[in-house]
Amino acid sequence: MNTPMAISATHFTLFHKTSLLFHKRCFRSFTFSTPFSSSSSSSLSVQKLGRQKWRQPVVSVLEIGGVKIGKDDVVRDDPTNNVPDTIFSKLGMQLHRRDQHPIGILKNAIYDYFDSNYLNKFEKFDHLCPIVSVKENFDDVLVPADHVSRSYNDTYYIDAQTVLRCHTSAHQAELLRRGHTHFLVTGDVYRRDSIDSTHYPVFHQMEGVRVFSPDDWEASGMDATSYAAGDLKKCLEGLACQLFGSVEMRWVDTYFPFTNPSFELEIYFQEKWLEVLGCGVTEQEILKRSGKNDNVAWAFGLGLERLAMVLFEIPDIRLFWSTDERFTSQFSKGQLGVKFKPFSKFPPCYKDMSFWVNDSFTENNLCEVVRGVAGDLVEEVQLIDNFTNEKGMTSHCYRIAYRSMERSLTDEEINQLQWNVREQAQSKLNVVLR
Ligand code: DAH
Repeated sequence: MNTPMAISATHFTLFHKTSLLFHKRCFRSFTFSTPFSSSSSSSLSVQKLGRQKWRQPVVSVLEIGGVKIGKDDVVRDDPTNNVPDTIFSKLGMQLHRRDQHPIGILKNAIYDYFDSNYLNKFEKFDHLCPIVSVKENFDDVLVPADHVSRSYNDTYYIDAQTVLRCHTSAHQAELLRRGHTHFLVTGDVYRRDSIDSTHYPVFHQMEGVRVFSPDDWEASGMDATSYAAGDLKKCLEGLACQLFGSVEMRWVDTYFPFTNPSFELEIYFQEKWLEVLGCGVTEQEILKRSGKNDNVAWAFGLGLERLAMVLFEIPDIRLFWSTDERFTSQFSKGQLGVKFKPFSKFPPCYKDMSFWVNDSFTENNLCEVVRGVAGDLVEEVQLIDNFTNEKGMTSHCYRIAYRSMERSLTDEEINQLQWNVREQAQSKLNVVLR
């Protein structure tokens, strides 16, 4: 199992790259099916959800920020929908709004930093609905049309125009348009991904934005961009210091579609450089479209799980979702960095499976199948062998690690899970088992 130190890449690689690797093949060939039929293929904006008639009987309904959302609004048997039941069940859990949960405790500590350093100037939004339009999630923050993050392989689509937000940056443009100039947005975000101790398809991010007017930078004698970049770095170095103490830090130049220049902050923690957040000076085009042509702004985004795993020494990302009292009782409001005491050393059980892949096979689709069957009992899915024979057929061998955080699993139970995974890989992904 990975230790917290090994989480350098947790959920942060999606927007780094300029790479235009859109896997078009994933679009049509995606064949997850649910027993529900499609009710509508039109876009599901929050407003529309709010106006929707209460339908009876409903499989399940939840409420986010006063909006009622039914399961069949989110999970549908439609080629433009790739949201499984397991993901629907996470909507509305709002770990970041629980004061006794490590994610909520960390959020509050960051809010406190901003409140005390900026005299309560930063507004906080932590109840914005995670169902957003493709426009909000991608177009409004200038994610290129062929960027890999837009693919059905990486993002959960409710329909062709509606997604589960894959980052809190999805709310930047709208809040700017509404006139907010200092704000923090915290929320659950959703990404189709591989399975290991630092990756989970739902996690939490915080976004921060600060807008400056000419008065702010003119007095300094600096140009607007340098002024904003300097202020951003000062603010985030202070935050890292507050959370981690006086650690060594470094700034790394990088790329994000929404900022220029763009940076990552890394801290030297437990003998490793740990990527803490991404940030930069907001692209002028975003400000211009929000009616703020004369302003300059900075923005940052950070992953709360990644930081909480380090600060609380939580070894596996699945634990955040545990309702086991042996986990939940270890944390209390305002107590940042209490070290988690593991209560489970249950052994993992490994099962290998080999199959011939087809052109549309992706590891993320396999992981979705495995999670659909085993839920949080799956700890890791790892490609351990891969070859192409003389006929051009490609074989993959995956090793699946099953382990509960809370109890011992029986052989019988694991064999049944593995059997179901094999069956569903065949029927849903059309792979040929070997
Ligand atoms: N949205 C980015 C991600 O999910 C994180 C991020 C980077 C947010 C830079 C920002 C930013 O606002 O300026 O990877």
